[in-house]
Amino acid sequence: MPLKITLPQRRRLEKAARAAARASYSPYSRFCVGSAVLAGSGKIYAGTNVENASYGLTNCAERSAVFAAVSRGERTLRCVVVYTPTPAPTMPCGACRQVLNEFGAHATVISVCDSEVRIETTLDRLLPMGFGPQNLLNGLPRHSSRPAR
Ligand code: THU
Repeated sequence: MPLKITLPQRRRLEKAARAAARASYSPYSRFCVGSAVLAGSGKIYAGTNVENASYGLTNCAERSAVFAAVSRGERTLRCVVVYTPTPAPTMPCGACRQVLNEFGAHATVISVCDSEVRIETTLDRLLPMGFGPQNLLNGLPRHSSRPAR
């Protein structure tokens, strides 16, 4: 069952994601992205994409938002909104899906853009059968996942 996200929460998330995109540091791709996450506490945290001259070190907007939330002590995420100033919505990349899965395996994912087109789905659908905390924090001693000799 998708988590219930109220209309006021959606509006605040979308506004925060749009505002975050204005801070995008994307001189190489010129692709601005803003993201906002609704954390378990009910607070909203935003982030933008931060590129680097060493391209592979780029951080996506979604991960920036997740890291902002976790850095403030949040451990669960209920919703993530992605905004791009494009005609079609942008979905989180594979790396971001994996990072989101750590804190919001059932989170609602909403992508909005500069047209009326929007996509609303859940992380379960974007990352089916993902690898996550349950694979490591299963209550077994740390050495139990070693192969038998
Ligand atoms: N990017 C994001 O921030 N989020 C996405 O969901 C897709 C891609 C960024 C990374 C890079 O700065 C630029 O968009 C082009 O890939």
